[in-house]
Amino acid sequence: TATQVFVKNPACVAYTYDDTIVMPGHISFSLGDVDISTKLTRNIELQVPFVSSPMDTVTEHKMAITMALQGGIGIIHSNMKAEDQATEVRRVKKFKNGFILDPVCLSPESTLEEVYRTKQSLGFSSFPVTDNGKMGGRLVGIISNRDTSFIEDPSVKVKEFMTSRDRLACAKDGVSLEEANKMLKESKKGKLPVVNEKDELVALIARTDLQKNRDNPRASKDSVNKQLLCGASIGTRPDDKIRAKLLVDAGVDVIVVDSSQGDSTYQIEMVQHLKSTHPEVDVIGGNVVTPSQAHHLIEAGVDGLRVGMGIGSICTTQEVCAVGRAQASAVYHVSKYARKFGIPIVADGGIKSTGHITKALCLGAGCVMMGSMLAGTDEAPGEYFYQDGVRLKRYRGMGSIEAMNQGGEKRYVWDTAKTAVKVAQGVSGAVTDKGTLQRYIPYLMQGVRHGLQDAGVKSLDDAREKLYSNRLRFEIRSPAAQKEGGVHGLHSYQKRLY
Ligand code: XMP
Repeated sequence: TATQVFVKNPACVAYTYDDTIVMPGHISFSLGDVDISTKLTRNIELQVPFVSSPMDTVTEHKMAITMALQGGIGIIHSNMKAEDQATEVRRVKKFKNGFILDPVCLSPESTLEEVYRTKQSLGFSSFPVTDNGKMGGRLVGIISNRDTSFIEDPSVKVKEFMTSRDRLACAKDGVSLEEANKMLKESKKGKLPVVNEKDELVALIARTDLQKNRDNPRASKDSVNKQLLCGASIGTRPDDKIRAKLLVDAGVDVIVVDSSQGDSTYQIEMVQHLKSTHPEVDVIGGNVVTPSQAHHLIEAGVDGLRVGMGIGSICTTQEVCAVGRAQASAVYHVSKYARKFGIPIVADGGIKSTGHITKALCLGAGCVMMGSMLAGTDEAPGEYFYQDGVRLKRYRGMGSIEAMNQGGEKRYVWDTAKTAVKVAQGVSGAVTDKGTLQRYIPYLMQGVRHGLQDAGVKSLDDAREKLYSNRLRFEIRSPAAQKEGGVHGLHSYQKRLY
């Protein structure tokens, strides 16, 4: 009977990351020897297998820049006008390490009171002064703490107390970071303005940023211009072709066709369009959770696949639509199939710990895509707020009513009629403060290296080779085993990640 087939056929039982555990292997190499470099798509290689999700509470240019500097990549969400999304991509592609390209400027006519207000709301203390008070205006001076400390009258104008242009060391447009660093050291100043031949301000270099960003040896860069890699998502509607063109013109490296159920004629048509119109850009299709879905998108020409349906922390797709698959099984089955065609997969959603990342990679994924893990970092869009004494940031599903009302429904709603009833497939909530990605990503990387070392695998290729020859083994954990694998038996404890 159908029930017997269901019970007997192990493929009919699907497992989550928590259901599984990796068996230890033999360690014959040091932690530092574990290589986590990977492929995101057929043509894009990354030093770090982490991708930030195209969600409006996760990835805009700040997240994408830091993800790329840390060796991963960010996918800019599409819940904004196409032109704005292209601007976000351009900001990532034009990013120059250590150069602030849009510094806040003051006018010589501004008052000390305005300086204090700006300082307070932005949290920094030096401002270039330009003739029109804007970036791109002629540089007339700079204001720092030193200039304001002895002035008491709040109505005094900036031009009265700024350090004027003739006393400023400035760099010429085109200066390298190395030269700029040298000039900063010699001038013993905290900021170095960069001007063009008309003495107009084109950038500002901050000593503190230089120290932070000195080198990012892992940074993900394109091979042609050595600019940071950047991805962006689009939907499958006809006007998404125009969006894609704008993104390509802005220099996007990879387009993610974003759909909760990717096996559709709409997506196949979009993938074919992208591959024939913009062959220089890689395309990731999805989402899929079965080899047969993957097959249709591979036939359409995708360069990578995104795997996961209804398993994200903010998802209600499985509850509302009764369709989806437990993620560990989805990752295993799709990656095994896609490997035959040389197509890497991104395990998207459901990642709650470094252990989950290690499991996804050991199950065949090339990268993991994260939403909730990254939404509480400084680099995610939005402001922190306090609730019950805890510092939080908002995080919402793109299928939540809130996000859909702002245009995010593209991923979920196929009926475009104005009267169509919206059915939420996600929720909105908040996640705790995780601090800056500059500390968080190295922590995640090191956790994954520990996991791979314990499993006896030296690289992601090694993991896959051992997985498919049964030398990297998983076991299923009983509910009691899962309990045993977590903290237990303590009255109370403190959990610090790093
Ligand atoms: P995590 O678990 O990392 O998941 O927070 C992020 C992934 O979840 C997907 N996503 C959604 N899925 N309803 C869904 O069913 C939603 O509203 C929703 N929003 C995002 C998406 O794949 C993302 O990368």
